[in-house]
Parts: sequence; C-alpha cells; structure tokens
Amino acid sequence: MSETLLEAHGLTVRYPEGEVALKDVTFSVETPSFMAIIGPNGSGKSTLLKTALGLLRPISGSIRLLGHDSTRESAAIRRLVRYVPQRDRIELTVPIKVKDIVLMGRLLKKRPPRIASRTDKRIAHEALQRVNMDEFWDHPFNELSGGQRQRVLVARALAAEGPVLMLDEPLAGTDAESQRLIVQVLGEYHTENDVNIIMVTHDLNPIHSYVDNVLLLRRTVIGLGKPCDVMDPALLTQVYGHSARVVEYAGHRYCVTRDTGVDRHHD
Ligand SMILES: Nc1ncnc2c1ncn2[C@@H]1O[C@H](COP(=O)(O)OP(=O)(O)O)[C@@H](O)[C@H]1O
Ligand SMILES: [Mg+2]
Repeated sequence: MSETLLEAHGLTVRYPEGEVALKDVTFSVETPSFMAIIGPNGSGKSTLLKTALGLLRPISGSIRLLGHDSTRESAAIRRLVRYVPQRDRIELTVPIKVKDIVLMGRLLKKRPPRIASRTDKRIAHEALQRVNMDEFWDHPFNELSGGQRQRVLVARALAAEGPVLMLDEPLAGTDAESQRLIVQVLGEYHTENDVNIIMVTHDLNPIHSYVDNVLLLRRTVIGLGKPCDVMDPALLTQVYGHSARVVEYAGHRYCVTRDTGVDRHHD
C-alpha cells in the first residue's frame, strides 16, 4: 500500500490582516512523487507549503504530510522535510562562506554542539559537486550570482536528511544554465534516492518531463494530474486567462502564458 505524501481536506487559510489565501483546498498525492505546484502570482502556492510545514494555521480544514497533521505535529514534519524557501533569509551582508551554508543543512537537525564531522564535510562536498559548485567551497556566498546562490541552497537541501524536499520557486531569478542543472539534479536525485520532491514553480516547462503530479492552484484546486493532463487549454485558461496557449512539440505539451515568472512574495 502506498503512503500519502500530501493531502488536504477543506483547507482554508487566511492571513491575520489579509484576505483568504486558500479556500476549501482538497487533494491527495501518493508517495513516491515529484510533485509540482503551479499557478499565477498570489494563487496561494507559498501559503500551501507554509501551511504544510505548520508555519501557518488554517482557519478550517486540515493538511497532512506523510501522515502527520501539520497543525499538531509540526516538529515531526520539520524533521521529515528539507525546505528551500522562496527567498532565503540568509543575511547577505554577513560574509558567510558557501561551505557554511551547505554544512548548515547537515548541522541544523543535530543537537548542540553542532560541529561538522568528516562525514558531514564529505556529504557537503558531494552535494556541491552535484550542482557544479564545489570549487566555490571557500567562497563568500554573497559574492555569487543569483543562479549560483540558488544552486548552493539546493546543495544545502541535498546535504540534509529527510524523505521530502520542498522547494519554493528554486528557478526564479536564475540563469538558463542554473535552471537546467537544478532541474536535472532534482530529477536524478528523486529517482536515485526515492526522495519525494514538492516544488513550487512558475513555469512547468523546464520540469514537466520529470514530474509525476501537477497541482494547479488558484486559491483553490483547479486541477491535479499528470503534466499532460494539467497542460489542458481549458484548465490553463481558467487560471492564466485567454493569453494561455498549449503548444505540442516532439510529443510534449508546453504551456505559454503571459506570466512574468516574477513572483510577489511576503516575509
Ligand atoms: N504575510 C502575508 N500577509 C498577508 N497576506 C499575505 C501574506 N503572504 C501572502 N499573502 C497573500 O496571500 C495570497 C497568496 O499568496 P502566496 O501564497 O504568497 O501566493 P503565491 O506563492 O502563489 O504567489 C496573496 O493574495 C498574497 O497577497
Ligand atoms: Mg510564492
């Protein structure tokens, strides 16, 4: 019997001073999965991840990750998940080195004193090699380009442990080469290690050949299925308006929207 990766029932979330960000969201996705969450700006993608992590409390309904209730068992959930937030809160004025960022992925879940062992360092090196950034081991993080930083943050998640990788817009603000690398590394990592991936993305096109399930959101669930099923003109028009087009090329469906790929977000 397969286990449920993420499931929500009648989930409604409202920010204290704001509007309803998610309304009556119900869906279920089984493990193992590389799952994409897509939808335009403000459709509740980041809110869904934060609620799944237990960082936000729903006003009604429920959400569970690998069987754990996000509201009541958030400590257990944080042990299972390696989370890459939408814009990392690493203070860029502090001259922290790449190695310290990646080692943080190993050390954060340990008890103090948090000292990196030889194994921690080996795993951190391997993670950086995967994203082609190992030569930057001693380099200050704040001197890297946007794409290089994002690759280091993905390496931090790879170096950490836990059966779920959760990434919020890891491709935003990155160059084409970094995008290609990040997508390929995540796809391979998912199949090699049986790790679940939940990835919020603006653009399904770079990842659709790796993804098992796509959740299309606009404050509520508009569609859930395999990439080709969700790449449906009628569904996409509901979400992105009449400018949305689906193009078929070499046996794949690609989606063209007027979405800028630049997401608004809040701290
Ligand atoms: N901290 C916040 N306070 C108030 N409203 C917020 C906050 N964060 C997000 N929102 C609102 O909730 C809705 C969903 O936001 P978000 O989950 O960030 O969407 P997405 O990640 O899909 O762009 C938007 O209308 C946004 O303005
Ligand atoms: Mg977001």
